[in-house]
Amino acid sequence: MKNIYSNIYSFNKKGLNKTIKNLNNENIVGLPTETVYGLAGNAYSIRAINKIFKLKKRPKKNPLIIHYNSIKDIRNDVLLNNNFFKLYKKFCPGPLTFILKKNKKSKITSSALANLNTVAIRFPSNRIIKTILKFIEFPLAMPSANLSSGLSPVCALDVFEEFKKKLKIIINGGKSKIGIESTVIDLTSKPKILRPGIIGANEINKILKINLVKKRSKIKSPGMLKKHYSPGIPVIIGKMKKGPSHAFIVFGKKYKNSNNYFNLSKKADLKEAASNLYKIMRKIKKDGYKKIFVGKIPNIGPGIAINDRLKRASK
Ligand code: TXA
Ligand code: MG
Repeated sequence: MKNIYSNIYSFNKKGLNKTIKNLNNENIVGLPTETVYGLAGNAYSIRAINKIFKLKKRPKKNPLIIHYNSIKDIRNDVLLNNNFFKLYKKFCPGPLTFILKKNKKSKITSSALANLNTVAIRFPSNRIIKTILKFIEFPLAMPSANLSSGLSPVCALDVFEEFKKKLKIIINGGKSKIGIESTVIDLTSKPKILRPGIIGANEINKILKINLVKKRSKIKSPGMLKKHYSPGIPVIIGKMKKGPSHAFIVFGKKYKNSNNYFNLSKKADLKEAASNLYKIMRKIKKDGYKKIFVGKIPNIGPGIAINDRLKRASK
């Protein structure tokens, strides 16, 4: 029987060589990171960037994050400042994305940046993506590997589900440890969090003073869609209405997993809850439920990022 998953590769010599070859040929590949899986392409290539936007059906005004292995590689692309160094020292490599001013010398394709004069950069910690970055001579533009406005993928099969054989290669790196996208912080003026993530505002605030935006709705990145992180069925927050095709996302010790109850974390651990969020939403959709009702999730630490995603999914 023909293997329908023949474009999913393990990360061995063959997988690495095929990935490098495709990236050097301006093709797009599906790669794991510690946050979510990404669609990677050469950030210096117009052809590669066009392919990413086309594959994702992403609006042209929504800029991409550029990924690097080392701080040595960024100097020609961005202008560095002290706030960046402070956060880099504490959190990198890891799930934090910095918005910095673009260096005029930068070779990054302007369409990757939606023609802005700022660049979002990130240093992922995942071993596979770090190794790949060492073997190529350009940084990787890499949005989450999902169709625009959908759920980010957290394993190779999720990526396959989104793009099937449109990708020549998807590297199987197991389940993404963190399970939601990186925190995005704007450092071009007074530091401000644009997208909450596992690294929270309070943690960052210990290193440098930031604008602690109270209202979640104020969090905004260019081109960020109001409706986002959508599983493809309605998500309803706050009320719980019983029904045969209704699924319930809950959190904490008092809930047992029963057929239509999906507990993000039985031990009430918000980090674990974040890592289960997309996996569970994808499963609910696949199981054929028609609506998702979401119970209360504490709005502290990683809970802030979880509630942000759920709120957008409910739009
Ligand atoms: O964890 C992650 O960040 C994953 C993995 C694959 O690295 N990537 C990811 O990329 O989530 P994406 O494209 O799905 O989300 C990028 C976010 C968008 O909200 C975009 O608007 C914002 O970063 N962004 C990119 N460039 C920006 C810029 N110059 N200024 C402000 N926001 C920017
Ligand atoms: Mg995304």
